[in-house]
Amino acid sequence: MIYFDNSATTLIEPTVLKTYQKVSQDFFGNPSSLHHLGDQAQQILNSARQQIAQIINCQTDEIYFTSGGSEGDNWVIKGTALEKRQFGNHIITTNVEHPAVSNAVHQLEKLGFEVTYVPVDKSGHINPQDVQAAIRPETILVSIMAVNNEVGAIQPIKSVAKILQDYPNIHFHVDAVQTVGKDLAAQIQDPRIDFMTFSGHKFHGPRGVGFIYAKNGRRIAPLINGGGQEDNRRSGTENTPAIVAMARALRLATQDQVAQAKLQNHLRQMLYQHLQNLDNAVVFSQLDTSFAPHILCFALRGVRGETIVHAFEQEDIYISTTSACSSRKGVEPITLAAMHVPDQLATSAVRVSLDANNTISEMQQFIKALDKIYQHFQVLN
Ligand SMILES: Cc1ncc(COP(=O)(O)O)c(C=O)c1O
Repeated sequence: MIYFDNSATTLIEPTVLKTYQKVSQDFFGNPSSLHHLGDQAQQILNSARQQIAQIINCQTDEIYFTSGGSEGDNWVIKGTALEKRQFGNHIITTNVEHPAVSNAVHQLEKLGFEVTYVPVDKSGHINPQDVQAAIRPETILVSIMAVNNEVGAIQPIKSVAKILQDYPNIHFHVDAVQTVGKDLAAQIQDPRIDFMTFSGHKFHGPRGVGFIYAKNGRRIAPLINGGGQEDNRRSGTENTPAIVAMARALRLATQDQVAQAKLQNHLRQMLYQHLQNLDNAVVFSQLDTSFAPHILCFALRGVRGETIVHAFEQEDIYISTTSACSSRKGVEPITLAAMHVPDQLATSAVRVSLDANNTISEMQQFIKALDKIYQHFQVLN
């Protein structure tokens, strides 16, 4: 099997799974319980928080655990809206966000909030000046993804951060779900960022767990009320095994990330260069540093994306149409639409997404299968 669908989800790392099992069995106490089993669970939870904070380069009390990327995005967006509604009702985001952001702001629009959607250019990037131009006295939040999950475009987060230095009251949220282990910190981390969203299953951690970075002093209202866990901000008994396992996965994904990102970039180049030889292939991702090393989106003219996905599946190779969320619903790829790719071509798009486990030999086999599939459809067309 060749698995090139790592932006949809990743296989849990074997030692991470072991950690999950061990913590489930040996530290099953509720971290809020007063007895020593509770203490043990609380301690192991604290050390996971510390490890994550160290890797993300922030304070321990700036990390809050969630159920994943969707919750993190919803929490920061709706939590900001609830917390700051007396100061304003305007939100700025882009028109290429993951549905966890775009549908959260759509819901707020129905409640009377106003949203400006900053457009992207042909390559999938926003222009920071458009963010500047959209800012109003009543703007409370700017939410921009770091790496686009469909084409891999890296948004100019640092330039937006620079602009927002002049607007200290606006919350700046970055969806960083697609960034872990890709050696992108220099491009996307900035002290002006107030909130970042992360998701465990995108870096070989367990499903259903994630975390947000929330800068000290920045407040968002809780969305999940209850027993007051996570410093009264996100209630619910902590998922200790998943959290501890996620901390381990984060360490493993980041410790060798320079070399790993380099290899993924090399594999991506191999595919990109090969696609240049196919007359009816169109590539939407580029090789320069404004694209993440692990995502390549391309189309084969005249063949629907899902047909390409299934043709690869016949070869025991797994890829996606442009995002896992849109795949089954047959939704048009939103990023390609925003890049003004014609509908007919956009419906032929597929996404290859790599990770540290992928090899040169796998890419060679992928290219072989691609040639076979390409020839097949050339004959049919
Ligand atoms: C950019 C981005 N944000 C948010 C999410 C949602 O994360 P989760 O699946 O953990 O809810 C994803 C998942 O694909 C994503 O790619």
